[in-house]
Amino acid sequence: MKQVLGIMSCTLLLAACAATSEQEEPTATAVLQPRSGSQVQGTVKFTQIGDIVRLSGEITGHTKGPKGFHIHEKGDCSDPKAMSAGGHFNPHKGKHGGPYDPVKHAGDIGNLVFNDQGVAKVNITVGNISVSRDGPDGIIGRALVVHMDPDDLKTDPTGNAGGRAACGVIG
Ligand code: CU
Ligand code: ZN
Repeated sequence: MKQVLGIMSCTLLLAACAATSEQEEPTATAVLQPRSGSQVQGTVKFTQIGDIVRLSGEITGHTKGPKGFHIHEKGDCSDPKAMSAGGHFNPHKGKHGGPYDPVKHAGDIGNLVFNDQGVAKVNITVGNISVSRDGPDGIIGRALVVHMDPDDLKTDPTGNAGGRAACGVIG
């Protein structure tokens, strides 16, 4: 009987620990608004999980296919074509690449694939960024951008992804 009680209290303790650490994970959100005359919009949540960051959410209103998806340097989406967001977030002076390439910009998230209905479910994990305002890799106060065209994952510095279809400040 004593053993059973011991196991039970362990289980309860573990559950309590898990709940606490989940609440402490830093999060941020970007509300993407249409730019460049598009109808692309949506919300993406960023969750820090240890050394990686999970992006989750849904974006609608695009044409079908892969579209470039990046964190840009400046948290300013005010320009009608979102040019005010600057270039790709690049704290370590890398060259453009894919999200899992050794050489890339920290803001290179790759492509988001939109379906026949023009909807993309976001469920991506990436490294090299952190959900914080301070430090070289911090993304709070920067911008999330969806492009008009696919990112070719190699052309420096833009990935040849075309115009900026939607932009949202990460906060
Ligand atoms: Cu971009
Ligand atoms: Zn890039």
